[in-house]
Amino acid sequence: MEYVINKYETPPDDVIEQLSLILDRATAQRDHQKPPQVASETSLKDVSERIHRVSAQTFVAESLGNITGFAISHPLIDTDSLDPSTVDTDHLALLMTDPDYWGEGIASQLLADVVTQTRSEGRTKLSLWTRKEDNERARSLYLHKGFAETGETREKKDGSSELRYMLTLS
Ligand SMILES: CC(C)(COP(=O)(O)OP(=O)(O)OC[C@H]1O[C@@H](n2cnc3c(N)ncnc32)[C@H](O)[C@@H]1OP(=O)(O)O)[C@@H](O)C(=O)NCCC(=O)NCCS
Repeated sequence: MEYVINKYETPPDDVIEQLSLILDRATAQRDHQKPPQVASETSLKDVSERIHRVSAQTFVAESLGNITGFAISHPLIDTDSLDPSTVDTDHLALLMTDPDYWGEGIASQLLADVVTQTRSEGRTKLSLWTRKEDNERARSLYLHKGFAETGETREKKDGSSELRYMLTLS
């Protein structure tokens, strides 16, 4: 399948809505539930909040006019007062592909574009959190692409746990 990846500093509202639907559909498929047809308010808020972080970049995969996946990354800073140019680590806040397009290499290409962006900003590491349980696709993707588990874990409000992965760029 042919697709292009467009990069946005802030995507327009209609694109944000489509990204939110992909987030809902991808997590439903991961959790063995039926993917929805309409984005939830929760994911709209979640995607929008991440897109608006300091110096965030949004990468959107499109094929024949359909949005098929996306990634959001931003410098890993704790406070907005810190200058992003002094930070050495980017954070991959979200990486999601619509389940209708899983296995076609879209997430791999999105990740490659995020890594290129991280390098071009002069940063040397890329961090992410991903679900620990029942998440083989994502965990195998990250290990294949050179990430290592850092050993850090965190608990989510829904009772699930997440693992931190880190990619060190050479
Ligand atoms: C994880 C996810 C982003 C992968 O998207 P994708 O577009 O299907 O990924 P790709 O086609 O680029 O495949 C990437 C890797 O996934 C793994 N993968 C692909 N098909 C797989 C399968 N059938 N079973 C297990 N792993 C598979 C492989 O490791 C593959 O790497 P490879 O290039 O060495 O084969 C997608 O499944 C998704 O959105 N999942 C739900 C949300 C999620 O967990 N996101 C990550 C949160 S941090």
